[in-house]
Amino acid sequence: MSEIETTARALVAPGKGILAADESAPTIEKRFKSIDVESTEENRRKYREMLFRTEGAEEFVSGVILFDETIRQPAADGTLLPKILEAKGIIPGIKVDAGAKQLAGSPTEKITEGLDGLRDRLAEYRGLGARFAKWRAVITIGDGIPTDYCLATNAHALARYAALCVEAGIVPIVEPEVLMDGRHTIETSDDVTTRTLHHVFDALFDQRVPLPQILLKPNMVLSGYDCPEQADVREVAERTIACFRRVVPAAVPGIVFLSGGQSDELASAHLNEMNKLGGGPWELSFSYGRALQAPALKAWGGSDANLAAGQKAYYHRAKCNGAARHGSYSAAMENAA
Ligand code: 13P
Repeated sequence: MSEIETTARALVAPGKGILAADESAPTIEKRFKSIDVESTEENRRKYREMLFRTEGAEEFVSGVILFDETIRQPAADGTLLPKILEAKGIIPGIKVDAGAKQLAGSPTEKITEGLDGLRDRLAEYRGLGARFAKWRAVITIGDGIPTDYCLATNAHALARYAALCVEAGIVPIVEPEVLMDGRHTIETSDDVTTRTLHHVFDALFDQRVPLPQILLKPNMVLSGYDCPEQADVREVAERTIACFRRVVPAAVPGIVFLSGGQSDELASAHLNEMNKLGGGPWELSFSYGRALQAPALKAWGGSDANLAAGQKAYYHRAKCNGAARHGSYSAAMENAA
């Protein structure tokens, strides 16, 4: 097995998943604002160092996606932050896209930028320790959208990114996120997610990306957050797996879901139910940002006195999602915390 495929499989090892800690400068500023903390380089370092030094997190966390600043950032004692992860056997990864911008000719849709110079940046990141990468495309559901133009253009960019990653010996996490904001039904989510993934796998095939060397990071198939009728956990799990069985080739080693604004407990419950149902040829895992971090961010609150409380909250969420990988998560785990 190639090194890159070994890495892809290690990232979805049984009982483990990925922490997405790659918030861009505006996003981390927004998260810090929610706890009334200023987004300075020092505060970002403190917060992320707290997460990365959490004892035992490596039982449930296989890899961490970093932002450009973080992969170069020293901890308080001068150790580079990715080295702290490596020392625990956690694989460092890197966000390499430059964000979603307005799509020319379709102003309510987005296209993700960042291909220019990507080959050189990937080589640099590999030198800094990155063994996997992430690129996020954003698909919005609304009146007459997504258009096929938007889906095809984003899929093309995702495939170009993935092909360059494979060339550089880096596992590409391919992330086409269909946003769940809005009043749309779960049937619409299912339909749009299916269309999106069709485009993505066509483009990956056209651009000769070897599927055993990638991981897919999709949304779950949910009711729009403002839809008056909310599908229950079982229906979400069944529809999500059924959708992927139609469009995700068996050669893909793992599907690592984003949480996308679900509550942290619901994100664990959905993943758990899917693993209980089974029936897919791929590992079903997590690559959560908010659903792994929200309670830790709150418990920390920007204060050095709360570092241990922040780590406890992060460890707990990691443990719950680790259990969800085996279908053994339960509400009782939350109460026992
Ligand atoms: P959320 O789990 O908060 O959606 O973040 C995952 C991610 O990396 C989005 O790109």
